[in-house]
Amino acid sequence: MYAMLTQQRDKILIVDDEPDIAKALKIHLDDEGYASSLAPGGSAALAILENEHDFSIILLDINMPEINGVTVLKYLQDTGSNAAVIMMSGHGSEELAVECMRHGAEDYIAKPFSLSDIQQRIERAIEHRRERMEKKMLQEEREDFILMLSHDMKNPLTAVIGSIDIIREGCLGSINEEQEEYLQSAIDSCNEVVFMIDNLLDIRKFEAGKIQMAIHPYNAQELIERVTSQFARPAKHDGIELVVDIEPGISEINVDKNAFTRVLGNLLGNALKFTPEEGTISVSCRSLQGNDILVQTIPGHVTTRPTAHEANCFIRVSVRDTGNGIPEDELDRVFNRYTQFSRKTGRERGGAGLGLAYCKLAIESFQGVIWAESKSGQGSEFIILLPCSSNNNSIN
Ligand SMILES: Nc1ncnc2c1ncn2[C@@H]1O[C@H](COP(=O)(O)OP(=O)(O)OP(=O)(O)O)[C@@H](O)[C@H]1O
Ligand SMILES: [Mg+2]
Repeated sequence: MYAMLTQQRDKILIVDDEPDIAKALKIHLDDEGYASSLAPGGSAALAILENEHDFSIILLDINMPEINGVTVLKYLQDTGSNAAVIMMSGHGSEELAVECMRHGAEDYIAKPFSLSDIQQRIERAIEHRRERMEKKMLQEEREDFILMLSHDMKNPLTAVIGSIDIIREGCLGSINEEQEEYLQSAIDSCNEVVFMIDNLLDIRKFEAGKIQMAIHPYNAQELIERVTSQFARPAKHDGIELVVDIEPGISEINVDKNAFTRVLGNLLGNALKFTPEEGTISVSCRSLQGNDILVQTIPGHVTTRPTAHEANCFIRVSVRDTGNGIPEDELDRVFNRYTQFSRKTGRERGGAGLGLAYCKLAIESFQGVIWAESKSGQGSEFIILLPCSSNNNSIN
């Protein structure tokens, strides 16, 4: 009963190599109702922080021998700690303290300080931390809600697609060409939403490390031709030429079939969306040998590199279009989620800005790399490099 009535006390870690200051602080803070612990240096602090993750506040001295306050702050950042950090700076380290605030510290206080002054700062930091945590929780709840809603929308949507398809196929009575076209367009729109939901759900799974890929060697030509053939009808409908050029006898690729299909689907969907009538979309696939070619092939702005492969053989898959292109300074950013470089055009053409974020995560999970090249106004090219499979027993 007593425990139920007792409010949880905020835990504070005092990290300082000057024992007099640390002890005086501890006595004062405990008297004020906090639960404080002492760490007489950076390494002691790291040892405590490794096991205890529920500190509200960390009072962190900057100048300490061996492991200093900046290193401890970096550790807290890297481990995603929720604690609010107040840096305690000695004479001459004020600049460093300001720098620490740029890297996630909540506040700093210059030594010597009065006990009432530091207590005021602690109270303020606790309040800020509480607001921050509430905001974060709300954000997470909102994201969870969107995910749940998206997930629950998939089943009825799939049912709608199935029902329309039955009518479109003429199973319930004959329909004319115009009716068929309208029904097909309704199916395409539903499929677009399902595609978007799948992108969103899978991006979240990637982020949570919960995605399960079934990576096997596949015949690259068959996979690419299968996906591309699904875009022949919409391309024709939009008056766009779709050209496929695959090097004969191309090597196998190690991918998850569904994920790779979705990547190509996203790239072709974008190409269709951003290419005007009478344009051309070209899908090509060829092999590359050796690291030298790799270095020359991947532009400098692309930070990831495919894992070196023993055979030094890579498959290059490209989807090129003759649309409006992408400005040079947006070429990397388009792979971030919710990025639509030109809000107006992106929104006019629908979509959530998730497709390329999914593509990047999926391709990197196959040890590959994806990037975009474009000269604004002259179309875009999305290029994927995947290591060739050393296994010859492909699955189709
Ligand atoms: N082929 C392309 N030509 C011109 N711009 C493109 C092309 N592909 C992508 N982009 C730009 O990159 C942005 C992000 O693409 P992405 O596929 O991630 O999102 P989206 O297509 O807008 O929405 P979603 O894929 O979620 O339906 C697009 O909104 C567009 O601005
Ligand atoms: Mg897209």
